[in-house]
Amino acid sequence: LTLSGCGQEAKPAQSGELLRSKAKLPTPFQVPLPVPPVKKPTRSDAKADYYQVVQRKASLEILPGLKTEVMGYDGLLPGPTFDVRSGRTTVVEQVNELDVSTVVHLHGGHTPAPSDGWPLDLIMPANGQHAGHHMSGGDMAMGKRTYTYPNQQRAATLWYHDHTMDYTAPQVYRGLFGLHIIRDDEEENLPLPKGDREIPLVIADRAFDADGSFLYPAAKDGPGVESAYMEGVVADVTLVNGAPWPVHEVDAVRYRFRILNASNARRYELAFDKGPAKFVQIGSDGGLLDKPVEHKTLVIAPAERFDVIVDFSQYQPGDEVTVVNKLDSNSGVLRFKIARKAPDDTRIPATLSSYAVTPRPAGVVRREWRFRRGDAGDHRGWTINGKAFDPVVMQAQVKLDQYEIWSFVTDVHHPVHVHLAPFQVLTRGGSSKLSAYDHGWKDTVDIRPAEVVEVLVKFSAHKGKYLIHCHNLEHEDMAMMAAFETI
Ligand code: C2O
Ligand code: CU
Repeated sequence: LTLSGCGQEAKPAQSGELLRSKAKLPTPFQVPLPVPPVKKPTRSDAKADYYQVVQRKASLEILPGLKTEVMGYDGLLPGPTFDVRSGRTTVVEQVNELDVSTVVHLHGGHTPAPSDGWPLDLIMPANGQHAGHHMSGGDMAMGKRTYTYPNQQRAATLWYHDHTMDYTAPQVYRGLFGLHIIRDDEEENLPLPKGDREIPLVIADRAFDADGSFLYPAAKDGPGVESAYMEGVVADVTLVNGAPWPVHEVDAVRYRFRILNASNARRYELAFDKGPAKFVQIGSDGGLLDKPVEHKTLVIAPAERFDVIVDFSQYQPGDEVTVVNKLDSNSGVLRFKIARKAPDDTRIPATLSSYAVTPRPAGVVRREWRFRRGDAGDHRGWTINGKAFDPVVMQAQVKLDQYEIWSFVTDVHHPVHVHLAPFQVLTRGGSSKLSAYDHGWKDTVDIRPAEVVEVLVKFSAHKGKYLIHCHNLEHEDMAMMAAFETI
């Protein structure tokens, strides 16, 4: 490691060693909030829209006056947003013009296995000059791969990101992540804020070297275990939609924010520094809640999404309100400046969605997934049920169309993610009194130390190999991942 300044100052109030930037950092709340561009299809037919994305390096001005080389979808960080209709198929040709191999996963997607982004289904670099990562055991594609997403699921905020075995953390860190928003009629018929009053907030922490390049511990550019980053990489600059501590001008009305924590390992507890603003949650990872839930603060673990309404109507033009992270000494995340009063015909309906919370069925299959540090001499990383990820080992065979109750057991924090199907949290810490953030359909759940969380899950439609893993991306790369097969 070639990092200076580590270890002299207090650690952040969470796991992980803090990576400190050497670059000159901007004064917070000066850079305007960008919004990732919506991706346009190259063509459409009756059932599908076709897109092409080029994964390439680009030199972006993330910190004012400096250039950062990113690995981005279309050279962007975050990548372009897919804005699609439920039931219409999205076909994406992903071209790899990087010099490393990649894999694309649609997080939250009800995706057939060949398009789900199995960590060994590599897209090798198109230029062919580098062999990419040397791994076998998957379906290797040269230069490009076409992914098909049926979008046969309700409206929700999904995201896509790299999923290359052993290299997901450094490749997502360098920019390989973006949003995939599914819309449907049920949601569109609600009187919620729309247009430029519906804004994604993709939060990710990064550190920068003096020349503006990303700092990431070199040892983790390989599959080795670097003990200093055993807990995951947390960094000192907070990016929102790719901009450091941005500022955004708003009218004194309601806004809808789709918040994604795209950080490798950092958890946030978001709060407003002053005034009456609060977060009214209308949706979770898997779409709308049945009814809104109010939060003063929002705890968001890596990969979780919270769809919220914030009402700025009680502020005056000229007021400023800052979103801070209570888990990091109230450090700022982004700021809103209230520009003007404006008419607002939106409201938050008492009933948002017709979905019923599934009653706990009797006699279902139960499985336990234990998330632990590896203790075997040859594996110093992280394990699930005592095993490091092995792509040829299926830890479970799961029948389609049957309810299962899965228990996640841990001793330290892990955001646990399941591919293919969302789940409902049934119990936390042995009690059916859930956390304030467990509502609705989720695909990632924050398991707190010494806690057991039970979820109800049912897979359908697609047979094949899928994954359950920790979404602390350094944990994932250190093998805290397991394969299961749907049959
Ligand atoms: Cu967001 Cu298996 O990933
Ligand atoms: Cu973990």
